[in-house]
Amino acid sequence: MPRALLTSLAVVVAVLGAVFQLSIKPVLVTAGLGRVIVPVNNERCTGYPELQACEKIVIHQPTGLLYLACSTPASRTHWTPAAHRRNATGMSTADYIATFDPSTHKITHLRITGFDSPRGLSVHGMDVVPSSSSSDVLFVYLVNHRAPRDGLQAKKVGADSAIEVFKTTVGGKELAHVRTVEDPVIATPNDLIGAPDGKGFYFTNDHGLAKTGIFRDYNIDAFLKCATTNVGYCHVDEGCKIAVSHLLGANGITRTSGGAFLVAAPPFGQVYVLDEQSDHSLVVTDTIYLDRPIDNLAVDHTGNVWGAGLVNALHLTGIHFENPSIASPSSAIRFSLNDGQSKFFGEKYRVETMFEDDGNVASGTTSAAYDSERNRLFLHGLAAPQLTVCEL
Ligand SMILES: *[C@@H]1O[C@H](CO)[C@@H](O)[C@H](O)[C@H]1NC(C)=O
Repeated sequence: MPRALLTSLAVVVAVLGAVFQLSIKPVLVTAGLGRVIVPVNNERCTGYPELQACEKIVIHQPTGLLYLACSTPASRTHWTPAAHRRNATGMSTADYIATFDPSTHKITHLRITGFDSPRGLSVHGMDVVPSSSSSDVLFVYLVNHRAPRDGLQAKKVGADSAIEVFKTTVGGKELAHVRTVEDPVIATPNDLIGAPDGKGFYFTNDHGLAKTGIFRDYNIDAFLKCATTNVGYCHVDEGCKIAVSHLLGANGITRTSGGAFLVAAPPFGQVYVLDEQSDHSLVVTDTIYLDRPIDNLAVDHTGNVWGAGLVNALHLTGIHFENPSIASPSSAIRFSLNDGQSKFFGEKYRVETMFEDDGNVASGTTSAAYDSERNRLFLHGLAAPQLTVCEL
């Protein structure tokens, strides 16, 4: 081989090695490469296999009632637009919202009224918000990943996602449809937080405005650290807009009692802290770094933030989502504003693993929420085989 060619080859190999070390390897390590599972708080748990594939769980704090947005594990394998699974033929037509009363173990599938859209309901992110006019009334905000309109192939054009707003009463058995919100800004919605009047919401677009494309479908955006995702804001009277853009991997979203917004960026083990502006835009004020991807977030009654920590995201998305009967390890992470001594040494947030399991007690967890008044940790997941409830 001529020397010039050898030199070029050596340069190419060196560059590829550097790209691997600097950009690919850190993502793989955060995703779980080489992580050892250490069981934490997995001894006092009960499973409820009547509830499957519930991607989002929300606690109604005054009653302790749990609201769940559920599907079937098989449907998730074929139809999960966020995870590049767009086989609309395999999409469930039986997705539902349920309540679970932990004190009686009673499960209620809420009966949907006033929603006769032939395009169905395919659930993902959810928020349940007491109405500002009556605390007995709850607004339920849902991401609805509809299949594209007739004749269009989801593989080519992506999902035709919308946000649905429903209304129910605390402990009620009906979910009355209020409105469907559609907008080009609602492109790849993942999770959302709703206003107490049923009229406005912030939502993450987990792949920005890109419904399709090799960059998103092969996770090239993640490996190249492309900050292409965003948070959108919609109000029924004002329309939709992008509230903040250039985020990495925006996914679960929640709001603290103090009003700060938190957005999880799973591929990088980060959580953004954002401030709301008067024009409903958001500004990033801080970033919390974790050792693993974190998915859906929930704030407990004491103000601590909980998130599903993906112990092995590669196994979860590659193997468990493909065949949900294969158990995948789970964890729940709690973080809090650090008010202890160490804050004076630069440790602003205290991050703790409050639950960890190899997948036998809780498999495929992507949503964790803790009822601090009743000491109950709830775990569920996009394609998970059961609801798991643990005492800590
Ligand atoms: C799409 O889903 C259907 C129904 O589950 C299944 O029969 C079909 O094989 C799936 N297609 C692909 C390409 O996976």
